[in-house]
Amino acid sequence: MTSSPKILGLSGFGLTVPDLDEARRFYTSFGLDSTQSAQGVFLRSPGRQHDEIAIFPGREKRLSHLSFFIDPSTTEAFAERVAREGIAVKDNPGRAGAAPGLWFQEPWGMWIHLNPMRPEPTAACPMPAENTGTSQRRVNVHLWQEIDRKRAPLRIGHMLMFTQEWEKVEKFYCDVLGFRTTDRANGKVAFMAAGDGVIDHHCFGLINGTHRGLQHASFHVGGIDDIGFTAWKMREAGYKDGFGPGRHAVASNLFHYTRDPWGSWIECYADMDMIDDHWQPREWKSLPYIWGPDWSPEFWANDHNANLEPR
Ligand SMILES: [Fe+2]
Repeated sequence: MTSSPKILGLSGFGLTVPDLDEARRFYTSFGLDSTQSAQGVFLRSPGRQHDEIAIFPGREKRLSHLSFFIDPSTTEAFAERVAREGIAVKDNPGRAGAAPGLWFQEPWGMWIHLNPMRPEPTAACPMPAENTGTSQRRVNVHLWQEIDRKRAPLRIGHMLMFTQEWEKVEKFYCDVLGFRTTDRANGKVAFMAAGDGVIDHHCFGLINGTHRGLQHASFHVGGIDDIGFTAWKMREAGYKDGFGPGRHAVASNLFHYTRDPWGSWIECYADMDMIDDHWQPREWKSLPYIWGPDWSPEFWANDHNANLEPR
C-alpha cells in the first residue's frame, strides 16, 4: 500500500477585496513586489518564482483560497486522494487569473490550490556582526550607518485561518493534505507543519472562530532589525495600527504585526523554532508571547471583531 501524498508547505493565499489599489499599496509598502493584470493584483517577496498573494476584485474582503506546494510527481496521487473524499478536483476554480495546478473546495467551502512546485530555498540573508556580552565581533564600525534599512521579506512563512469546527478542519487537513499538528494552544489554536526533514514549526494554523477568514499572514525576514524597519516603514506609510515587537511562545519567533485595511494582520517574523521528525506535539495553555506589548485579547479570541470578513 502506498502512503498518501503530502503537501510540502505554504505557497500563498488569495483574497477578494473591494479596492485593488489599496491592496497593492498596503502589500508593496510591506516590501512585496506586485504585478497587475485585468484579473487582479499579484504579490511576491522579491526574487521568488511564484506569486504568494493573489488579490481579486470582490464586493467584500474575503479569504478566497489557500495555496500549498506539492511535489509535481504527486499531482495524480493527490487528485485521486481528494476524489476519494467525494470532492471534485478541477484545473481552475472558475476564476480567470488563477494559477495552474489542482483546485478543489474542502468540505467547508474554501478553495484549495495545490501548486505543483517544490518550495524554493530561502534566499541567503547575511546578518551584521554583533557585540554580545564579552563577544566583540564589531569594532570601529558604524553599524547604524551601514545596516541595510530596506531589506525585503524573504518569503511567505505561514498563515493562520480562523474557522468554525476547527478540530474537524484540522483532521481533514492532516488526513487529506498531509499536515501534522505540531502544537496546540489554549484549546483553540492548532499549529501545523508540512514537509520532510528540518522544517518550520508551522506553516499554517487554525484558530477556532465565529466564521472563516484570514487571521494573519506572516513573512520571514532576516532578524530583529528587519522587523523594526518593516514596522517603521508601515507606520510611515500610514498603517499605524501595529502590534509588537515581541517574541512568541510556542514557536519562539520574534514578531511584529500591522493591521491590514480589512482588519486582518500581516506579520513579519524571524528566528522561529525548527523541528524534525523527533518533535513531540503538546497542548499548551499560555499567552501567545513571552515578551511584547500589552496583552491583546483579540489575538486568540473567539470573536475576531476587528476583522471585516463576512460571516
Ligand atoms: Fe504568525
